[in-house]
Amino acid sequence: MITLAEKAYAKINLTLDVLAKREDGYHDLRSVMQTVSLCDDVEIDLDTGKPWKISCGAASIPCDERNLAWKAARAFFDRIGKEPDGIEIRIFKRIPSEAGLAGGSADAAAVLRVLNRWANDPFSVGELCALGAKVGSDVPFCVLGGTALAEGRGEKLSKLLDAPELHLVICKPPVAFATPELFRRLDSVEIKERPDTEAMLRALHSGDRKRIAGLLCNVFEQAVAGYREIDAIKKSLLANGALGAVMTGSGSAVYGIFRSADCAKAACDALITEYPQTFAAKTV
Ligand code: C5P
Repeated sequence: MITLAEKAYAKINLTLDVLAKREDGYHDLRSVMQTVSLCDDVEIDLDTGKPWKISCGAASIPCDERNLAWKAARAFFDRIGKEPDGIEIRIFKRIPSEAGLAGGSADAAAVLRVLNRWANDPFSVGELCALGAKVGSDVPFCVLGGTALAEGRGEKLSKLLDAPELHLVICKPPVAFATPELFRRLDSVEIKERPDTEAMLRALHSGDRKRIAGLLCNVFEQAVAGYREIDAIKKSLLANGALGAVMTGSGSAVYGIFRSADCAKAACDALITEYPQTFAAKTV
C-alpha cells in the first residue's frame, strides 16, 4: 500500500463580478482569485484491497461518491484508464464549508495534483485543470493556485504575477448561503456596484497593498444585503484595523486585509469570541 499526502489550500476572491446567465444555466464570471494559507490536509492510501472509502470528520460533508475529492479521483482514474486496487481518502478539514472558500474544490484539486505526481505527471497543469472543471467550477483555479483571473464559468484562467504577501483574517459566521440560490437572486436584481477588475489588476501588478484592499468588491454581497451578519463582520474587521474587507465567493465567509501579521492576529483574537470560525491567514 502507498500513502500520498497533499495540502489543499482555500481561495478568496479579491474581486468577483457575475456577468451574463448562459444557456447551460451557468453564469459567466470575472474574478481575481487568490490562494491562501488556510488549508485542509489530504491523504490517500492506494491499493488498500478494499472498496473505495473517504472520511473527512465533518458531519455536514458527504463521505461517499458525492464528495468532490472522490469525484476527482474517479475522474482521474477514468481518464488514465486504470486504477489501483482500492483507495482510501482521508481529509483533515480546517477550511469551513459553505463559506465561499472553495474547501471542497481545494480537496478535489489536491487529489488531482497528488495523483498526477504519483502517476509521473501524465497530464499538464492545463489538462489537470480541464479534468477539474468536470468536478466543479472552482476546481481548475485550485489546481493552478497562486493569483489568477478567472473568466467563463470560472475555468478560463489567466495566471497573474503573485500578489504581494497579504495578511488576512477570515471569519465564517454560522449563516450559510446556497450558491445556486445566490446566482438566482442576482439574476433578479439590478447589480448596482461592480468591481473595477482592471484597477485591481494594476494594483496587483504594482504590489500596492492599500490599493488592493481599497478595490475589494464582490457582487454577491448585493444578493445577501438582508443578512446583517455579513455587514457586521465587515465593520468589525475594519474597526479592528483592516485596510479593506469583503465577502468571499458566494459566502458566507468575510475576510479583511491587514497591514501586518501582528495586526491580523490582534483582529483575529478580537473576533474569535463571537465567531469561533475565525482564522488568521496569508496569501500563498
Ligand atoms: O460548478 P459548481 O458545481 O461549483 O456550481 C454550483 C452551482 O453554482 C451551479 O449548479 C450553478 O447553479 C451555479 N454556478 C453558476 N455559474 C458559475 C458557477 C456556478 O451559475 N459560473
